[in-house]
Amino acid sequence: MRIYCAKDYYHASRVAANIISAQVIMKPDCVLGLATGATPVGTYEQLVRWYEKGDLDFASVHSVNLDEYRGLSAEDEQSYRYFMNSHLFDHINIDKKNTYVPDGMEPDAAKACSAYDEIIRSLGGIDLQILGLGHNGHIGFNEPGSAFEKETHCVRLSRSTIEANARFFDSIDRVPREAYTMGIKSIMQARKVVVIVCGESKREIVRRAFFGAITPEVPASVLQLHNDVILVGDEAALADCL
Ligand code: GLP
Repeated sequence: MRIYCAKDYYHASRVAANIISAQVIMKPDCVLGLATGATPVGTYEQLVRWYEKGDLDFASVHSVNLDEYRGLSAEDEQSYRYFMNSHLFDHINIDKKNTYVPDGMEPDAAKACSAYDEIIRSLGGIDLQILGLGHNGHIGFNEPGSAFEKETHCVRLSRSTIEANARFFDSIDRVPREAYTMGIKSIMQARKVVVIVCGESKREIVRRAFFGAITPEVPASVLQLHNDVILVGDEAALADCL
């Protein structure tokens, strides 16, 4: 694992955006695995700036997102599809037809998830997967206790994740209780993984995930077994890792 420690969120976002840019430049028809949450917002802003300068071309890029709330439509402002459109896709020249997010409106979970696995397979797998890190060690929506061998599946969100994500909703009661998420196996099959971690509140879980025991109780810890992981963070989050 390589670690890039930047002094703050802005600079960590630039490092992550640089890695994504390098991927897009080296392989213009690459498949990017994308993440939501507050952490990658700065990375996406940086990519948009470089696109606007003319440095990047997303015309042949495909993307697959990690997860989506079950029951939220693309038009719902809290859906991850809406997040991706508003933070990235609406501002760059990616063809929206080439961007994939699990279908939160498909009530048949098995169908939604197997269709998503099929999309990832038909694209030839993920070249570069971007990840954030939940405070309980979740990646995507793979909560503590998730089996490592799962591909896309439906999960019940843990209480701590519902509480953490309530900040994006009018009230905690509106946070969906379920989501469709790529599984640990889907994530581990990506050829390269970039995990972005920022802020003091992530410090403890970063230490446990990357320097503690590999256990389903800390889903991100499995990344210690991946042979091409880059951990990008700020000094606050990486304080125990340097
Ligand atoms: C959500 C997402 C994750 C994300 C995590 C951390 O639960 N499903 O993909 O990594 O939150 O979010 P944040 O970056 O806001 O701390």
